[in-house]
Amino acid sequence: MVWDPGDSEAKFQGQSLPRFDLGGFAPLLGGLANELTLHPIGFIRTQKQVKFQARHQPQEIEAERNVLELLPGANYEQALQDLAGFSRVWLVWWFHRNTDWRPRVMPPRGPAKRRGVFATRSPHRPNPLGLTPVQLIEIKGRKLILGPCDLVDGTPVFDIKPYIPAYDAFPGESAGWIAEVDAALAVPPKFTVVFSPLAEKQAEWLQAEWQVDFRSRLVELLARDPSPHRTRRITRRDDREFLIGCGAWRAGFTVTDNVVTVQVIEPGYPQRFLHDPAKRNGLPDRDAQLAFLEVWPERP
Ligand SMILES: C[S@@+](CC[C@H](N)C(=O)[O-])C[C@H]1O[C@@H](n2cnc3c(N)ncnc32)[C@H](O)[C@@H]1O
Repeated sequence: MVWDPGDSEAKFQGQSLPRFDLGGFAPLLGGLANELTLHPIGFIRTQKQVKFQARHQPQEIEAERNVLELLPGANYEQALQDLAGFSRVWLVWWFHRNTDWRPRVMPPRGPAKRRGVFATRSPHRPNPLGLTPVQLIEIKGRKLILGPCDLVDGTPVFDIKPYIPAYDAFPGESAGWIAEVDAALAVPPKFTVVFSPLAEKQAEWLQAEWQVDFRSRLVELLARDPSPHRTRRITRRDDREFLIGCGAWRAGFTVTDNVVTVQVIEPGYPQRFLHDPAKRNGLPDRDAQLAFLEVWPERP
């Protein structure tokens, strides 16, 4: 599917999904084509322009407000009747920024191990449908004011259903490999994270000038496991240093025994991107990155 990224009133341009051979199941569709067509009922507006700004699942403690705007002219006002009494709703949506799927994916949590995509919440699915329970704060006409979510701005939404604890919550069920990873994460972190004087100064500056708390994110990630990992965006920079990317920022670090030393913080985007007027609007923390480069120019 191709989504024309305009405002929430923009239309979908239909594009065929990959055709699957339905074999003996074809008669079940009663002669319908082997595609089942969905149309978005609306689009979500969030502060997250790029994928890495969105959490892997909504962060309930964040004071975030998002707006799901339903399309006009389809009687959705009536369809919303009686929903206001529910404090939470399910959103069924499309990972429209993805173009591919993978049978095995590497989840960001836990060891660098691939898992079958159906055992994960990865966006890279054969039918890229997302499912998110979100707080319903208020309904204003065709707009739903929602709490924290994990969707990027402009994501098409296909359906809304009330979240019903008696039907939808089964806290005692087993959570497979996720439970194993959670148990491993419950033990104290293996690594101590320290900052070089330069990185300390840079982290303080980011927090004080731009309210970017990169420091705690680095400590959270590196104290668990600083080893190279594609989804955690950790790579080897050279013989001595590793590089971790996180949001619009990255950091060079070294590891000696169980001590991770963050050596330097850098903007995640190169100067030519930051100065490119065509890319202006889409770049997260662009102004902060440019200001950072005034203080700490790019290394030659
Ligand atoms: C791990 S998925 C989980 C989504 C949903 N809660 C689920 O379980 O199906 C959440 C991630 O999807 C990505 N994402 C959000 N909106 C997207 C979109 N419209 N297209 C592609 N990826 C998206 C973001 O990187 C976000 O961190």
